[in-house]
Amino acid sequence: MPKLAVVSGGGTGIGRAIAEELAAEHEVVLLGRRAEVLRRTAEELSGEHRLVRAVVADLCEPDEVRRAADEITAGDRTVDVLVNNAGGNFAPQPAEDLSTLREQYLRNLGGNVLPVVLLTQALLPALRRPGGRIVTVTSIAAFRGNASYGAAKAALHPWSTELAARLAGAGITVNVVAPGYVGGTEFYRDRMTPEFHRQRSAQAPVGRGGTVADVAGLVGYLAGATAGFVTGQIIQINGGALMGRG
Ligand SMILES: NC(=O)c1ccc[n+]([C@@H]2O[C@H](COP(=O)([O-])OP(=O)(O)OC[C@H]3O[C@@H](n4cnc5c(N)ncnc54)[C@H](OP(=O)(O)O)[C@@H]3O)[C@@H](O)[C@H]2O)c1
Repeated sequence: MPKLAVVSGGGTGIGRAIAEELAAEHEVVLLGRRAEVLRRTAEELSGEHRLVRAVVADLCEPDEVRRAADEITAGDRTVDVLVNNAGGNFAPQPAEDLSTLREQYLRNLGGNVLPVVLLTQALLPALRRPGGRIVTVTSIAAFRGNASYGAAKAALHPWSTELAARLAGAGITVNVVAPGYVGGTEFYRDRMTPEFHRQRSAQAPVGRGGTVADVAGLVGYLAGATAGFVTGQIIQINGGALMGRG
């Protein structure tokens, strides 16, 4: 039986690259809301020695998370790697109006925290002990950036470190990867222009924006056999954008 990796938001962008990275050594399950997007990605990433399959679920909805977890673990299947990557900035422009501002915070908190907390809770009994890996994708915004989105991502940091402490004895590592700007995904939607890309890329002292492969490489390391002594960490990957140019 091949090892099993689950990647939420695996149909597009960073999640897709993580799925591709993990597919070399794992059977991979992609999770997302859009069936056609997932189906296409699963088909493209599958190959002679690679099995990638799609499970459709809105991970903010407990019943859908339960159904997806049951489908993934059918036949008492063990999960080796869980990558919590699904999320996004669902309110990039802060509103002046109080009701709208409230709605924006709730949307970003719900849209970023619930998929991680619910999916992890549902799959936890099936995680490999010892040797399981949980990696959660947050953002540089948890340290600096759009407040309602950053607040939501920051909420996942104490969640992850608490879980790491709880699961260390079981031999499961729990880490966070917090990327800076990464182009080539659906994240920025209609805000993405060549000028926006140039500006964001210029924020990093290394002189470029991140790529989905940069993030996937780091997640691949944390998911791998040699990372067993790394747990409870929040690892930033941003080309030095947070430290700035000095
Ligand atoms: N791009 C960046 O600059 C950047 C920087 C730092 C952190 N991040 C984080 O990296 C992660 C991946 O983002 P990305 O840039 O690759 O953008 P993306 O292409 O928009 O990927 C987000 C994925 O999450 C899925 N998703 C969102 N909500 C979901 C839900 N409720 N249930 C199931 N799936 C859901 C989406 O699929 P469906 O819409 O089909 O559900 C989509 O595949 C996100 O957590 C994002 O916050 C991105």
